[in-house]
Amino acid sequence: VYHTPELTPTDHLPACAVVIDVLRATTTIATALNAGAEAVQAFSNVDKLLQVSEQWDAEKRLRAGERGGKAVPGCDMGNSPLVCTPEKVQGRRLFLSTTNGTRALQRVEDSPTVITGAQVNRQSVVRYLQAQQPETVWLVGSGWEGTFSLEDTACAGAIAQPLLEACGDEIVGNDETVDAIALYAQWQDRLLEMFYQASHGKRLLGLNNTADLEYCAQTDIFDILPVQTEKGVLVKQV
Ligand code: MLT
Repeated sequence: VYHTPELTPTDHLPACAVVIDVLRATTTIATALNAGAEAVQAFSNVDKLLQVSEQWDAEKRLRAGERGGKAVPGCDMGNSPLVCTPEKVQGRRLFLSTTNGTRALQRVEDSPTVITGAQVNRQSVVRYLQAQQPETVWLVGSGWEGTFSLEDTACAGAIAQPLLEACGDEIVGNDETVDAIALYAQWQDRLLEMFYQASHGKRLLGLNNTADLEYCAQTDIFDILPVQTEKGVLVKQV
């Protein structure tokens, strides 16, 4: 389990990177693809997002920008998964830039395989890892501007726990992963309560995003695996 800020450019990238940003980027990504978005294209820079998306017909694109939990002016929406309804996203490309989640995606975009995980699609990620059995897996918590994230770490534990039997020593020998599994075990039946205590959860509550927290706290509500097909572009794995 890594937290984005720890990653350095010289890090030897893993066979498979699982980017996690439960509040809210990877929940939004899974929700948008489940609702029929053609793809989600992630940008760490909003200006680049606006520049690239300009080349798309307005009815084929949706610009989602968030900084500090708030929508970015000039975008069509912020980063609420609740906005990603079929009516809104069907057949469109979601151009997404968020404070941390899209930066985490950029950090690992050169890995052979990049997928995204959240509570809502946790089991899809587990099943993929069990089937593919990649040599090395990084569970990358996006965190918040260089700080540890409770919800992302707990989600990493939610993904790692079912893999314990298959991976055995590899996981048991990794303190960060063992801690994440323990954190999830402590909160798995009270995720919303944990979100209310988490720093970013409190930030979102302060912005009246209670419904987002309730939505993001749901576990395994759909079976979808966002996978990177080209740098920064995530599609629903079929
Ligand atoms: C992030 O990138 O840190 C989050 O997705 C921010 C948010 O949507 O609240």
